[in-house]
Parts: sequence; structure tokens; C-alpha cells
Amino acid sequence: MPRLGADRRHEVRFTLNGRPVEGEAEPRMLLTDFLRHVLGRTGTHVGCEHGVCGACTVQIDGAPARACLTLAVQVEGAEIRTVEGLAPAPDRLSVLQESFRAHHGLQCGFCTPGILMSLDELLSRRPDASEDDIRHQLSGHLCRCTGYAPIMKAALDAARRLRGEGETAADA
Ligand code: FES
Ligand code: FES
Repeated sequence: MPRLGADRRHEVRFTLNGRPVEGEAEPRMLLTDFLRHVLGRTGTHVGCEHGVCGACTVQIDGAPARACLTLAVQVEGAEIRTVEGLAPAPDRLSVLQESFRAHHGLQCGFCTPGILMSLDELLSRRPDASEDDIRHQLSGHLCRCTGYAPIMKAALDAARRLRGEGETAADA
């Protein structure tokens, strides 16, 4: 394996939301900084920068991962999905996003990209996820605003819809 000199920049190439991207990164550059500052994709948020809050969660090769604990050079050749890749079309939201909107699953929205990427992974794999499963998935995310109840409501509604059991009914 080639040694990575701390002072050298490396070309990093991967697939971001289905499209090839590339840029230069020092070996110590975090994936969060690469996404936001090199590629200009600011949908992924940065909170604690040490793996606690979950705001920076993206999907790497299909699995949720903390982008603040991942080096950009580690994702060479990987498939990365971020919140910018969730909507199926510019004028359409995903089922999960629609449920968050309908049930007020966000307030300031700081935690939201990370939570969406975690829940998207769980519900795409297991639309039959139980309330406990969803709570477990959310346990890696801090939200200072909502008290989590509307997030749970949105996630359960999205799961129902993904199972084909009815449409989102907006909260009054
Ligand atoms: S910014 Fe990555 S876990 Fe908080
Ligand atoms: S909506 Fe503000 S931190 Fe979650």
C-alpha cells in the first residue's frame, strides 16, 4: 500500500449520488470537508466533528457512516450518497422527505440530513422496521429542537408508505 505523505495532496475519485466526482485532498482531510469545501456540496452538515452528533452521516457503499470520522482518501472508488441524492427528481421529494415535511420532523434542520440518510438506509433495507428498530437507528443522532416525537412519527409514516399501506396524512 502506498505511503501517504502528510504534506502531499492526492487525487480522490468516487461516485457521489450516482455521478463521478474528483478533487485533491491532503491525507488528513475529512470527508465532510472534502464534500463541503472541495466539491461544494453543503447538504452534509458538520456538528461535533468527533462522531457524536450524527449530523454528518452519509451512506458509503450503502451503509450509514460518519463523514467526520472518515478521511477523503479512504473513499477512493466508493459509492457515496448524501442528502442531495435523496429526492428522485428536482421537483419531487422521496417518501421519507415527504413524511418529514408532513409531520414536522424538523425545525432548524441542522440534524436532518444525517437523520434522513440513516433512516433512508434502514427503511430501504427494512420497510418492516419496528418502532424499536427506528429508535435504535436514531440513537446515533442528536436533535436539539424536535424532542424526537415528530421524527418518529415521520419515520413510522414513511415505513407504512414504503410497505404500500397508505398515503401520508399531514398533521393538523
Ligand atoms: S459532525 Fe460527525 S458525528 Fe457530529
Ligand atoms: S431540527 Fe434542529 S437539531 Fe434537529
